[in-house]
Amino acid sequence: MALLFPMNLAKFASFVITLLVIVVAGDCIRVICRMSPCPKVNPPLPVETVFKLPAPLPIWPSGTGFATRFLSLGNLIVSEATDFEVVWRTRSGGPDNLGATFFEPSTTDDAAQGYKVLGYYSQPNNKPFTGRSVLAFDRYLRGNMKAPVDYNYVWSSMYSSDIDQDGFGYIWWPKCPDGYKALGLVVTNATQKPSLDKVSCLKDELTEQCENFNWIWGAEGINIYTTRPSARGTQAMGVHLGSFVAQVGGVMSDIACLKNINSDLSSTPTLEQIDPIIKAYSPWVYFHPDEKYLPASVEWFFENGGLLYKRGDEGNPVPVTPNGSNLPQGGSDDGAYWLNLPNDLDERDRVKRGDLAIARVYMHVKPMFGATFTDIAIWVYYPFNGPAKIRFGLLNFQLPHIGEHIGDWEHVTLRVNNFNGELQSIYFSQHKGGIWLDATDLEFQEGNKAAVYASRYGHAFYSKPGLVLDGKDGIGLRNDCEKADLYLDTGASYTLVAAEYLGSAVVEPPWLNYSRKWGPTVNHILKDEIDEVLKVIPKPLRGHFRKLFYKLPREILEEEGPSSIKAKVSWDGDEI
Ligand SMILES: *[C@@H]1O[C@H](CO)[C@@H](O)[C@H](O)[C@H]1NC(C)=O
Ligand SMILES: *[C@@H]1O[C@H](CO)[C@@H](O)[C@H](O)[C@H]1NC(C)=O
Ligand SMILES: *[C@@H]1O[C@H](CO)[C@@H](O)[C@H](O)[C@H]1NC(C)=O
Repeated sequence: MALLFPMNLAKFASFVITLLVIVVAGDCIRVICRMSPCPKVNPPLPVETVFKLPAPLPIWPSGTGFATRFLSLGNLIVSEATDFEVVWRTRSGGPDNLGATFFEPSTTDDAAQGYKVLGYYSQPNNKPFTGRSVLAFDRYLRGNMKAPVDYNYVWSSMYSSDIDQDGFGYIWWPKCPDGYKALGLVVTNATQKPSLDKVSCLKDELTEQCENFNWIWGAEGINIYTTRPSARGTQAMGVHLGSFVAQVGGVMSDIACLKNINSDLSSTPTLEQIDPIIKAYSPWVYFHPDEKYLPASVEWFFENGGLLYKRGDEGNPVPVTPNGSNLPQGGSDDGAYWLNLPNDLDERDRVKRGDLAIARVYMHVKPMFGATFTDIAIWVYYPFNGPAKIRFGLLNFQLPHIGEHIGDWEHVTLRVNNFNGELQSIYFSQHKGGIWLDATDLEFQEGNKAAVYASRYGHAFYSKPGLVLDGKDGIGLRNDCEKADLYLDTGASYTLVAAEYLGSAVVEPPWLNYSRKWGPTVNHILKDEIDEVLKVIPKPLRGHFRKLFYKLPREILEEEGPSSIKAKVSWDGDEI
């Protein structure tokens, strides 16, 4: 009764009546449904919700093209679609068997009248809507864009009775005039060919090779994928359009990517814009409560006894200046020099543990996808990487040394859209590889800052706490993450160490140009480790476990380890 107290009598009566109506109506519907087939009521799909970053974006300091919605790519100006109309939806197949939706992009932006669609957009239904489609305008009207002359029929869902779908979908490939290429496909929900003004073709020289990337959807005989430029990296000029390709009977549709032909970098953030971008999106890195080997600043490591060794003169290691000015500069990773912890055992143990309170991260800012995106690689330095913990079904073994190394560089990379300044995705480095996750899959806090979890001892980065096992059949390397009080706010103490596109504006610290290893090469003998670990197992069972150990894929115990961050492929290239 306490619940009803605030209601007056009239409200209470209407409440009871409403309840009755719901009950009675429900019964009626059930009765009617038994008499004739009911219209199917589809549960709402994740794609029906538009994804938004949790907090509004800051107002960026003014600059050149960054976050101005219109980016200059030499002869073309490009913008992003603002409207997406659903053309066709499947409700089965694709990720989580939830189907996919196909959209016609357009713009309601007055300033973008005359901008042409290059290809339709599609995405899986298991994720909130994150539609993005690049529209283009031929700035000097020099015939860089032309309407297709016809469409080739690619595929239709009309003959696939096993697809749960709303209406039927028809996929078309724009047939372009000679010397022009198609950059995307068109979808209709009727048998007629689409009108020729639905998309534009681009002059050959404004295009480059594209490849299929993420799987969007599939049914018998067809698969739909996102596209991306085949050549990617800070120097590559292929643009990520948001279009898709269809693979029908094993044949991939011939779709090109747009190219930033004159390497126009005017859309990249200026030096003044970098700090606000970092402040808006810098993740918090959470460490496991049992983590012993925390990050430190490079400067701290040198000031606290980090030593430089030279091959042939191992007996005379030299202390390193705080900025690394006495480290050998340049050269190749030839093993002629390496860094190591201090020799004194107590000091060694102290330095291994890092110093979270005064740790810093190091940012590298670089253009991607023809300067339509900005990648900010955030490098975290740990003086020490702890040994691996292995799981066999229900049993766990902490290895004494395998997996350990001195000097450990890990990173996450923020990918920011230069049209609107929004965070698009984050790359998480994990041992030898890593993973890109879209903003829809991130845990945000403090506005638009993602939570990043560093695994215990191994420091692989994940987007969620919990256990990730690298291996299979319940046997593998444990990556344990937990949300604890130990965290690093990467935006609070960082150094911008490189942004090559800004010329001499960012001065690289001398340690960045040190191209040798940040730790000595140590080979742990697997057999010795196994013997050590198996001491805790009753003798009759040891043979069994020994066999299991040898089943572990060796590469999961390998770490990317302590090579210089400039030497990593991702320095100039795309992540993996
Ligand atoms: C068919 O596609 C058009 C856009 O081309 C859209 O307006 C219409 O709603 C679609 N029909 C259905 C049933 O989805
Ligand atoms: C590095 O530090 C030394 C002092 O240890 C200083 O003389 C030098 O100018 C610094 N170099 C740079 C590039 O900051
Ligand atoms: C790094 O070293 C290389 C090779 O010695 C040199 O060419 C380059 O100018 C150096 N860069 C900086 C920033 O010191």
